[in-house]
Amino acid sequence: MTSSPDPATPAPTSTPASTHPTGYATGRLGDKTVHRVGLGAMQLAGPGVFGPHADPERCRTVLRRAVELGVDHVDTSQFYGPDVVNELIREALHPYPEQLRLVTKVGATRDDRGGWLPAGRPEQLRAQVEDNLRTLDVERMDLVNLRRYERDAPGTDAAPLEEQLGALADLRTEGKLDLIGVSSVHAETVRTALESVGIGEVQNPYSLLDRADEEVLDLCRAHGVAYVPYFPLGSAFTGGPAALAADEHVASVAARHGVSATRVALAWLLARYENLLLIPGTSSPEHLEENLAVLDVVLDADDLAELDLVEPRPVGH
Ligand SMILES: NC(=O)c1ccc[n+]([C@@H]2O[C@H](COP(=O)([O-])OP(=O)(O)OC[C@H]3O[C@@H](n4cnc5c(N)ncnc54)[C@H](OP(=O)(O)O)[C@@H]3O)[C@@H](O)[C@H]2O)c1
Repeated sequence: MTSSPDPATPAPTSTPASTHPTGYATGRLGDKTVHRVGLGAMQLAGPGVFGPHADPERCRTVLRRAVELGVDHVDTSQFYGPDVVNELIREALHPYPEQLRLVTKVGATRDDRGGWLPAGRPEQLRAQVEDNLRTLDVERMDLVNLRRYERDAPGTDAAPLEEQLGALADLRTEGKLDLIGVSSVHAETVRTALESVGIGEVQNPYSLLDRADEEVLDLCRAHGVAYVPYFPLGSAFTGGPAALAADEHVASVAARHGVSATRVALAWLLARYENLLLIPGTSSPEHLEENLAVLDVVLDADDLAELDLVEPRPVGH
């Protein structure tokens, strides 16, 4: 899975392969090419991302089908379940296809009722990377995101940013991860991370329903870094997919193209930046196939103008 011993800052993404009329079918994580539509694995845990899913076999089917259909980028974390999702990934996909990029995130833990707690001290980050390696049964992660709390619970991060990035850089030097990313962060953190350790992705909340992250998106464009929006459908926690389906502007564009509101919302994201990589989350084989077909949807200037009118709404946990 991870062959490059070079942990250097990723190359800019100026020349990804193009097979899509208005954009690119592939983007880049560091120097690795990936399809622009990957899979977010968070929906493969139980309710509240806690405990097992009601239908683990369906979850394994989603993972296998995703890879069969060309998905080569799966986003996960040890704290999904916890453990549950990484174990499903290993059961379904190990030994992993050579081209599969497994991306995780560290910096949080769960309490015994499923609550989310910051756990970002350097020794905690190291232990979490080791846990991911063990449960996924790999020697090196393709990318590890430092999950900060500055977007959702400012002031609660467990350690200074520089110490956290230093811990991940040490693990990179030791060969335990290939690329560092940052998640749930403001632009200033992205700038610091770019300058101090180099990053392969930023993973922040962003969707048609939550467009507050334009400054970070601009930074990613300027540096050719992958931008990976989480909650791309506005978050299941706050009824995002239903809100998209109910929006008159999304519905009008969807009707024009004869596709679902979901595909319009994902196509809008793809149109924002050529190295924006999708990781829509689903535990449904049907939704997986629908989401992968988003590259067929080509939005024109009228569509994009209409989608600008979508009313933003609160998104999150
Ligand atoms: N860094 C972070 O802090 C962070 C936070 C949250 C998420 N993430 C990552 O980002 C990924 C995406 O976020 P998310 O899963 O929370 O996305 P989301 O925007 O909340 O969307 C997921 C919801 O959309 C539904 N859905 C998916 N495809 C659909 C379709 N074609 N039609 C109708 N409904 C559909 C899913 O239900 P079904 O299962 O029924 O399809 C699920 O309820 C996660 O899986 C995770 O890997 C990272």
